[in-house]
Amino acid sequence: MVCVNDFRMRLGQHELVPIVIGGMGVDISTADLALEAARLGGVGHISDAMIKTVTDRRYQTKFVKAKQALYKHNMDSMDKSSVKFSLEDLAEATRLHVRHTMERKQGSGMIFINCMEKLTMNGPKDTLAVRLNAALDAGIDGITLAAGLHLGSFALMEANPRFRQAKLGIIVSSVRALQLFLKKNSRLNRLPDYVVVEGPLAGGHLGFGMDWANYSLQTIVQEVLDYLRQEQLEIPVIAAGGVFTGSDAVRYLQMGAAGVQVATRFTVTRECGLPDDVKQEYFKASEDDIEVNEISPTGYPMRMIKASPGIGDGIRPNCEAYGYLLDANGRCAYVDSYNREAQAHPGERRLSVYDKTCLCTHMRNFAIWTCGQLTWRLKDTSLRLPDGSYQLLTAEHVFKDYQFSENEQIRLPDPAV
Ligand SMILES: Cc1cc2nc3c(=O)[nH]c(=O)nc-3n(C[C@H](O)[C@H](O)[C@H](O)COP(=O)(O)O)c2cc1C
Repeated sequence: MVCVNDFRMRLGQHELVPIVIGGMGVDISTADLALEAARLGGVGHISDAMIKTVTDRRYQTKFVKAKQALYKHNMDSMDKSSVKFSLEDLAEATRLHVRHTMERKQGSGMIFINCMEKLTMNGPKDTLAVRLNAALDAGIDGITLAAGLHLGSFALMEANPRFRQAKLGIIVSSVRALQLFLKKNSRLNRLPDYVVVEGPLAGGHLGFGMDWANYSLQTIVQEVLDYLRQEQLEIPVIAAGGVFTGSDAVRYLQMGAAGVQVATRFTVTRECGLPDDVKQEYFKASEDDIEVNEISPTGYPMRMIKASPGIGDGIRPNCEAYGYLLDANGRCAYVDSYNREAQAHPGERRLSVYDKTCLCTHMRNFAIWTCGQLTWRLKDTSLRLPDGSYQLLTAEHVFKDYQFSENEQIRLPDPAV
């Protein structure tokens, strides 16, 4: 019987177990989770989503408070265009998170950072340049460009001394997106070191429209592999989205993928950053409890558990403290929706806003439970405890299950003592 361990993923000089734990913001893919993947010989991701919130929590910085204090006068204004990020603080926060993580790294694997272009931060180009370069400066092994086409992102790092040394990859959901990226970057004479092909069953934001169900990861991976072969480009391809068992992974590796990127199975591990009661919601979810909707202000469809407390919640936007989704003109679709409801219901203490959600506040508070399509299968990966809850897993257990399981099997954990 074949298992994932029969394969290795080559990224330049590095030979890795072909399992990548995908980035999950905001601090759902924690440093602890990424470090386990690296220790076990694979690749783990941290994320730079809402990095200041993450460092304030983890390393006792005061970045969020400082920004909020600076823009306090603007709290009641509908116009958020003056609320800017301090680029120095942004760089410092990124360096802190990356440095603290890399200092703790053990084993032969690697740690990458997930960088979403859709976090436009009221200054898309400047803030993205700072995020990417600060991560390189602080010694990250690699950067995965996510949630966007990233046509200009390589150029933003071109002058960095680690531009040709660190591993740089991009997430695409179609061969067309990859073609565009390669064309746009041809003058830099630097190919991506890997391409993550993310299909329609993934968690987080989707690179598809609401017709996502018409697409299949297998087809897109095949198209990307065919295209790269035809162009004689040797770029490792990593398949992502709905790879639930080791046998699922083996099917992609046998097709010619170099590795798989997985996330959902790790949402119920101890190392995952979700609060324990939310992890139980992931375990309990049935197929009918999961939806793809359009409430993310980014404009991308997003998958989540329908019972997420953030859905419909009309909290006042707090761009003065956060503001990660403000576009180049200082606008956010949630701010517009909130203002519409506030005008329609003057004096109301608690508003409901259904068409968009305040993603910054709710991701910060773990109140939007984004998840992969196969979350409903998590209950089959663990044991039920006497009180009816599910036993949390360790990242090592799930990683090794992917690595060594055969024949569609999922190994259950040893009962907790
Ligand atoms: C809870 C959760 C949060 C996620 N957040 C992000 C993110 O911030 N950025 C990103 O590029 N992908 C994100 N993803 C996608 C994963 O990195 C990964 O590619 C995908 O979910 C793999 O499919 P699987 O969950 O079926 O294993 C997220 C996935 C989950 C489950």
